[in-house]
Amino acid sequence: MHKICVIEGDGIGKEVVPAAVSILKATGVDFEFINADAGDEVFEKTGVALPEETVKSAKECDAVFFGAAGETAADVIVKLRKILNTYANVRPVKAYKGINCLNSDIDYIIVRENTEGLYKGIEAEIADGVYTATRVITEEACEKIFKFACNMAEDRKKQGINNGEITCGHKANVLKLTDGVFKNKFYEVAKQYSVKPEDYYVDALNMYLITRPETFNVVVTSNLFGDILSDGAAGTVGGLGMAPSANIGDEYGLFEPVHGSAPDIAGKGIANPTATILTAILMLRYLNENDAADRVEKALEEVLENKLTTPDLGGSLTTTQMAEEVAKRV
Ligand code: NAI
Ligand code: MG
Repeated sequence: MHKICVIEGDGIGKEVVPAAVSILKATGVDFEFINADAGDEVFEKTGVALPEETVKSAKECDAVFFGAAGETAADVIVKLRKILNTYANVRPVKAYKGINCLNSDIDYIIVRENTEGLYKGIEAEIADGVYTATRVITEEACEKIFKFACNMAEDRKKQGINNGEITCGHKANVLKLTDGVFKNKFYEVAKQYSVKPEDYYVDALNMYLITRPETFNVVVTSNLFGDILSDGAAGTVGGLGMAPSANIGDEYGLFEPVHGSAPDIAGKGIANPTATILTAILMLRYLNENDAADRVEKALEEVLENKLTTPDLGGSLTTTQMAEEVAKRV
């Protein structure tokens, strides 16, 4: 039995999470779902965006399944990633049939360092009208993220998906010290694995992810760069409605679609549940429920191919109807 802490959060989180949970229930896997609050709504009521009970429940469960927060996102999801020490943010970029994609052969994974870099949150006003943000890179965090990414590249090689290619994105020409260390550590760690390492300046890499996305396998980069690259990458495979993510640490797994609470479409029943369903698949694999994960993925592929989708993907179904189509095929 797997205990899952479910945090719907705000806006479309309240629509896409129940949709994906209904599919998880349809797999027949033994789950216990424990609902917890976080986000703007609970903040308005109590003055706290991430209640203590939610953190406690997240720590007690086998995995956390998160929807989206609104304006309190930094105090909710960024904080939760820190509390659970989920140092790797895994963002698969995959083209599915039936979706308007840049290239139908796209299938790679962005691994983003999740704990430091420019998102360490160290900002200051150092003189009148002068502000700084400190970019933190530690050898320890570099080693952890590169080992994680190299393991993933090796795994994919074993599965016959690719040949162990792994690409590091950095800016060592300008950020000579911090990204100098980042780049050197990458090659130092990669040498210990059966992988094919390469590196690019992150701005050029951003272009290659658009001009030849089908050539990538595992892309590893620092926190801010990974944030930007992954939203752009989502755009090449159908947009934010198609982008799942997993935050992985040594102790905890926190699973969430990349998108936010989408206030512009919230409450209309038209949010695309695909990103959250793909996120549920990542969670199933994390829990070693690979058979269930395969079944959900196959069902989703069929639904996408047959255009049984929400309007953003060209269909005419509601969030719930699309999830029902997936659930009945699982
Ligand atoms: P967003 O991801 O919520 O929306 C961006 C655009 O994509 C909107 O036009 C939206 O309608 C569309 N979109 C997003 N998900 C979709 C889906 N599943 N189906 C169809 N269309 C979808 O980002 P935005 O607008 O920048 O932020 C809105 C709120 O969400 C803000 O309050 C922000 O702080 C929060 N946010 C929270 C995140 C989190 O909890 N992880 C991440 C990003 C933003
Ligand atoms: Mg982002």
